[in-house]
Amino acid sequence: MTNIAIVGLQWGDEGKGKIVDCLSDKFDAVVRFQGGHNAGHTIKVGDNTYKLSLLPSGIIRDKFSVIGSGVVVDPIALFNEIKKLEDQGLKILPEKLAIADNACLILSIHQDLDQLLEAEKGENKIGTTGRGIGPAYEDRAGRRAVRICDLLDEKVLRERLTNLLFYHNLLRKSLGAEIVTVEKIISELAPIRERLLSFTRPSFEIYKKLSACKNVMFEGAQGVLLDVTYGTFPFVTSSNTMSGQVALGSCMGVGDLHNTIGILKAYTTRVGSGPFPTELNDEIGNFLRIEGKEVGTVTGRDRRCGWFDAVLVKQAIKISSVKEIALTKLDVLDKLEKIKICVGYKIDGEVYEYLPQANHLWSKIEPVYEEIEGWREVTVGAKSVSELPQKARNYIARIEELCGVKSVIISTGPKREETIILKDLS
Ligand code: IMP
Repeated sequence: MTNIAIVGLQWGDEGKGKIVDCLSDKFDAVVRFQGGHNAGHTIKVGDNTYKLSLLPSGIIRDKFSVIGSGVVVDPIALFNEIKKLEDQGLKILPEKLAIADNACLILSIHQDLDQLLEAEKGENKIGTTGRGIGPAYEDRAGRRAVRICDLLDEKVLRERLTNLLFYHNLLRKSLGAEIVTVEKIISELAPIRERLLSFTRPSFEIYKKLSACKNVMFEGAQGVLLDVTYGTFPFVTSSNTMSGQVALGSCMGVGDLHNTIGILKAYTTRVGSGPFPTELNDEIGNFLRIEGKEVGTVTGRDRRCGWFDAVLVKQAIKISSVKEIALTKLDVLDKLEKIKICVGYKIDGEVYEYLPQANHLWSKIEPVYEEIEGWREVTVGAKSVSELPQKARNYIARIEELCGVKSVIISTGPKREETIILKDLS
């Protein structure tokens, strides 16, 4: 049995959906272990494009798919997503999709609060996806959240909601929003309550089922640099996005994870606010945005683009125990004459090999770059390393050297077949 985690090593949008999809045939089960419907995974199969936010990518391949205990679940968004996939011809049945009973719910009040607080922050906003992720995790830590299992009993549900709304209504009053009643939330949940429960399983039952699988893939969402503990705080998401979270959010234990593959884009992007030392606010940044189609799947916002940052990635690799990498979107760089890689930061004349957590230093960062000659040849659709120009191979080799890991997959286009597989991971 080899269970692997797939995590993004930058600020999300590294192309995890495609890589998970490429590998999922070899795995019996795919598990989401953190985040919620703030994620956006686009998967192309033949002529069909599937967009996933909350559902594990394995659902496209009819694999046993789990929304684990560490995920926050907006049931209305979940069923909208399921409906879209069903309209595309997929069948999503409780035999194939299990949701942990101790996962916490995202309710309409969470989305309201996310948006109200962001609006209050003005210039200092985080640039969240506005989906209620942060407020839902806050309620979990504050022990006020409603868990899916609370829907099983009307009395418990009302008690939990009364407790939760006491807190939310205090905040809502001070933000000038209407008071919300228990009845309102109950009526929002009523149309989906039974259906949601039909997919819900005790987390220990999920553990047993996953333990009986030959191999399991844990599918990360967002990226390691958005981790609430180690990311660019406070410009982060509200969950832990590193592979360590697998043990807490998947229904399985720390010993059940055997390898972590990190997904890396050949350049860097981020959505929302926060530091981005290698950001390019020039024509090359625009080129990357257009060529890489860098528009958020969830929010439709343009992504900020910049050079590959080996400083950040090396840190992410270490703290997520990444052993191997999958490099994506290499083809986006095909037309560039020169390509830069950031190999260090200079702050007040001192060289740093990591991003300092102290926010006041961020504006002083001067990236130290290495310049590499572009290959200026088409790599789209290459299926083996021998099809890649030598200069593209040099670029990959330099990234591997700087990051101290080897590539096992190189993605050369959005389609499943546009992939170089260097190692069998099953
Ligand atoms: P939240 O997760 O909606 O609270 O947003 C917090 C930060 O994480 C914002 O900068 C978002 O743009 C970013 N974020 C959340 N989910 C994703 C994702 O799946 N990809 C990229 N960025 C994300």
